[in-house]
Amino acid sequence: MTDSRFGDATPARAETLGGHTAGQLLRLCDVVGLDSASAGSYAQTLTDALGPVAERPLDLPPPTPTFLSDDQTPVEFSLSFSPDAAPSLRVLIEPGYGAAGLTQNGRTGLRVVREMAGRWGFTTDRLDELEDLFFPDAPQGPLTLWCALELRPGGVPKVKVYLNPAASGAKRSADTVREALTRLGHPEGFESLPPADGYPFLALDLGDWDTPRAKVYVRHPDLAATEAGLLSRADAGPLHTEVEDFFRTAAGLDADAGDRADVRLARRPVLTCHSFTDSASGAPSGFTLHIPVRDYVRHDGEALARAVSLLLRYGVDPAPLGRSLTAVTARRLEDGVGLIAYLALAHQRGRPPRVTAYISSEAYEVRPPAVLEPPRAEAVG
Ligand code: TRP
Repeated sequence: MTDSRFGDATPARAETLGGHTAGQLLRLCDVVGLDSASAGSYAQTLTDALGPVAERPLDLPPPTPTFLSDDQTPVEFSLSFSPDAAPSLRVLIEPGYGAAGLTQNGRTGLRVVREMAGRWGFTTDRLDELEDLFFPDAPQGPLTLWCALELRPGGVPKVKVYLNPAASGAKRSADTVREALTRLGHPEGFESLPPADGYPFLALDLGDWDTPRAKVYVRHPDLAATEAGLLSRADAGPLHTEVEDFFRTAAGLDADAGDRADVRLARRPVLTCHSFTDSASGAPSGFTLHIPVRDYVRHDGEALARAVSLLLRYGVDPAPLGRSLTAVTARRLEDGVGLIAYLALAHQRGRPPRVTAYISSEAYEVRPPAVLEPPRAEAVG
């Protein structure tokens, strides 16, 4: 049961975008055991970051599109699990959501991040150094700036910003990533990346991190498990087989091995993320595999079952994940797909591996269950 202090997970139609997502956040904080003072200040931070659209009633349609989530909600949650600790709760936000155009969207995003920096006393130097690359006069889509908050006890989050390497046009993305990595002190970083169809995001840790990262996301359409196993460039990265196994379980390919064990994921691309922390070796120090599980299941009951088997494999108690789904929605898992958007495996030098589940708000819409047998993809070779 969810805590009744925080209301229930049924969207009331008179509710606002801010009220709905803040309620979800409070209930998720309860699931991961954050104290209620921290939870309350994080709910306020979320509402503040959304700005005026927080007041918008949910019975009005989404004011603008967003690439952040399938149903156009500018908020997504994630729970990151490692064997040695309680799950960590994060929230991803598009502060410029609802702005009249991308230029304004980007300006709002920068302003909101700088306000956070002022409030919590961290520097935005690394972001400021990249402003001309990611905030041109007429930015192109599909995003300008997203901000993720890692919700620690104490009410002061760790902050990450996500930027769009295609802001000056998709053709310039590779050059933009190369230049950004160089300015951040990783001049050899770009050459170390695996073959890419594109670079959807560049992310920066800002604020109170032991080892702040610069992260490059790489898109891999039609990827097979055996190929995924070869994509890490981290100096002490995961074994090929570990990545392959995670891929197969998340994509639903290990139940029936045989000729389906190495099918390509053709519906939505797999992403990998390569994180850079020190300039000594030039190579990344972290690797993450993101499987868009929502396009390879019929419904969220199936997605949860896959997440649970992965968590058990990594020695993690899966119960908080189930509770977190109940905290965001009252619907049955079988009645929709997309509540679990991605499942990810993260390796960072010097830390235990982490499994992360990305949880949609579904403030606007639930995608109906799929009728096709997943995954519908060609076999390799
Ligand atoms: N909605 C986008 C996508 O599906 C971006 C995104 C949101 C994303 N959350 C994510 C990408 C988590 C990777 C992991 O790609």
